[in-house]
Amino acid sequence: MITHADDVSETQLQTLPVVQLKNVTKQFGSLHALRGITFDLKAGRALALVGESGCGKSTCANIISRTIAQSGGDVLLNGSEVPSPLRIKDEKPFRRNVQMIFQDPFSSLNPAFTIRHHISRALKIHGHGINRADRTRRVLETLDLVGLEGETAASKYPHQLSGGQRQRVNIARALAVQPSVLLADEPTSMLDVSIRLDILKLLSRVKRERNLAMLYITHDIATAYQVAETIVIMFAGQMVEWGDSLTVLSQPRHPYTKLLLSAVPDPERRFHVENSMEYLNEATRIRAISRVYSEDVIQIGENHFVRKTEATDFS
Ligand SMILES: Nc1ncnc2c1ncn2[C@@H]1O[C@H](COP(=O)(O)OP(=O)(O)OP(=O)(O)O)[C@@H](O)[C@H]1O
Ligand SMILES: [Mg+2]
Repeated sequence: MITHADDVSETQLQTLPVVQLKNVTKQFGSLHALRGITFDLKAGRALALVGESGCGKSTCANIISRTIAQSGGDVLLNGSEVPSPLRIKDEKPFRRNVQMIFQDPFSSLNPAFTIRHHISRALKIHGHGINRADRTRRVLETLDLVGLEGETAASKYPHQLSGGQRQRVNIARALAVQPSVLLADEPTSMLDVSIRLDILKLLSRVKRERNLAMLYITHDIATAYQVAETIVIMFAGQMVEWGDSLTVLSQPRHPYTKLLLSAVPDPERRFHVENSMEYLNEATRIRAISRVYSEDVIQIGENHFVRKTEATDFS
């Protein structure tokens, strides 16, 4: 089921995007992992990068976070170009400002330390909280913000928490240092289906309350709409269709977007075995068409763009 992300009033938003990617490319040897990636992350808004495994989603996040350097194009933070590698003096402020949440809530916490230690350490590294008491207050406040009971959660060790609670701790740790950019790389894909929506609601709420510029990476086109106002559909390193989430999802034009949407489980639709071979053949055809590199982008609506293929729907 698809429900809408929280509405954000235009007055809350700054006009200058917090992050800008301009024609970013990335090659790993002969592999073109990214080609011509251009999008903005704006304060108080989320952009969902959607696409199948290997299409280049994490590579985008890693380039924004300066974990890796792009091969071409520019990355800007608050209007200024961000060099890669970062200058030593810029490294700490940049890392504070641009925080990441990863897929695996288990491996990102150290089993030997309490939750208090994890968040306190982030505060200490980034110079928040002048003394211990102040840091403790901030730890409890941030745990409360992500829906954990601060006093109880702070003294626990990671193994004493559920997967969902651990991901809340990761989100708390990222937010504690008051970033302006949050990069969430498949933050719910390793969690039980039953708690995924809670985490997405949490991300949506903190995006609004903290005025965060958020990148939400997912395989799942249906969840994109719950968090993000803008959707970018990627395939084989290219943005194939992008724009306002509702428009892209309700009026998809690119054959690959249509393919992704046709795979969203629908309890009303029975799976017909006799059609499955036909479906697979069609999926293979669409993926082959979509893989072709093209610089032809068509603007369909005010905020709706699609890359031209031999099967793009311009009706
Ligand atoms: N360090 C690297 N060296 C060589 N190739 C890489 C490297 N990192 C990524 N790739 C390749 O670049 C392409 C894009 O990878 P990326 O991790 O960005 O995909 P993804 O969309 O995040 O996939 P997933 O959904 O599986 O996480 C893939 O073909 C991958 O194998
Ligand atoms: Mg990835």
